[in-house]
Amino acid sequence: MCDGVSIREMVASVGTPLYVYSAQSIRDGYLSIDDAFGEYPHYIHYALKANSTLSILRLLRELGSRADANSSGEIEVARRAGFQPREIIFTGVGKTRLELEEAVSLDLGIINAESPGELDRIAEVAQAQGREARVAVRINPDIDAKSHPNISTGLKTNKFGVPLQEARTIYRERQKLSGLKFAGVHVHIGSQITSTEPLQRAVKALTMLALELKDDGFLLEHLDIGGGLGIAYGEQAVITPVEYAVSVLPHLKRVGIPVVLEPGRSIVGHSGALVAKVVDIKRYPDNRRFAVLDAGMGELMRPALYGSFHPIVPITPGTGEPIPWDVVGPICESSDIFSQDLLLPPLEVNDLVAILDVGAYGSVMASNYNRRLLPAEVLVDNGQWKVIRRRQTPEDVLSLEL
Ligand SMILES: Cc1ncc(COP(=O)(O)O)c(C=O)c1O
Repeated sequence: MCDGVSIREMVASVGTPLYVYSAQSIRDGYLSIDDAFGEYPHYIHYALKANSTLSILRLLRELGSRADANSSGEIEVARRAGFQPREIIFTGVGKTRLELEEAVSLDLGIINAESPGELDRIAEVAQAQGREARVAVRINPDIDAKSHPNISTGLKTNKFGVPLQEARTIYRERQKLSGLKFAGVHVHIGSQITSTEPLQRAVKALTMLALELKDDGFLLEHLDIGGGLGIAYGEQAVITPVEYAVSVLPHLKRVGIPVVLEPGRSIVGHSGALVAKVVDIKRYPDNRRFAVLDAGMGELMRPALYGSFHPIVPITPGTGEPIPWDVVGPICESSDIFSQDLLLPPLEVNDLVAILDVGAYGSVMASNYNRRLLPAEVLVDNGQWKVIRRRQTPEDVLSLEL
């Protein structure tokens, strides 16, 4: 069941593989962060990269969320979901000239610049359009987020941001440049962070810079402390939004201006399950057992991309003692594995399983590799379910080809 609604019923109508989301879980995720920052002035800019299905964005917007977009595509989707340009932050390495022109002409809430060169290009674009672009600079504080290396972004070996020690000069040198309004400072040191220490250190570094910039005469309007709050995949120990807020608020209060948060995973991560069908059972002479699913790395890339773990539960109630299974996908890559030696009851062809905690960085990373079709997505709300994205068809895929 998902929030009291039968998953079998959804599968009977829509088939598998299928992403199932709980609206209530998304609301809970959003409100737990909102509540954690309490009375301190804060703006939550949900990071679309975690999951940008329109219905999910609309739900978050209704709760008061704003948006953090990482590309022209995400800006477009955010606007279609109803976010006003001023509610959208544009972040990300490698913004193209076209993207900058669009961001400036839309008068987005803020553009988080990743380099001095990018700041200069934003200024050029703004001057050419006779506008003033609201900008912040993303700093790289050289702090280890202690997450997986592929989703850590705050070390000096990472491509993100400008070195902290150069940031003040970068701001000062452009203070009088026409076309730029320095409205904030930004940091984001990675994703799936499970302890307060790196987050707190990053915020402290950001606030020190903000205080220096205040001395230099900058009238900053906010401190953007990024996203990154981790969630428990299985038994993993994590920090709560309250622990996060408690660890950073004393630093933020020293500056006293509003804080901008860019959470993605912590809002939607727990809200989704990927429902798949067992299509084959294989057993090797050494007793290794494979359950081959009709979903694989094409639908959920995280395990293949960075060895992440997702709990898997059978939807069909199994009888018998749990036995070890290698739960794998159908794709022609040996990395297409969800879990090895996972204890599950005996499985049979046509049984359904749910891969849990896939609401973030799940469907957004899906691909057509092996010419597989993107799965359908359903949202459960208030005892009802509805399709929020239909399953892709071969015609959808081939429509791009000439
Ligand atoms: C700049 C930026 N902000 C916010 C996020 C969202 O991070 P998370 O989903 O870990 O909260 C990311 C993703 O890593 C990001 O790159």
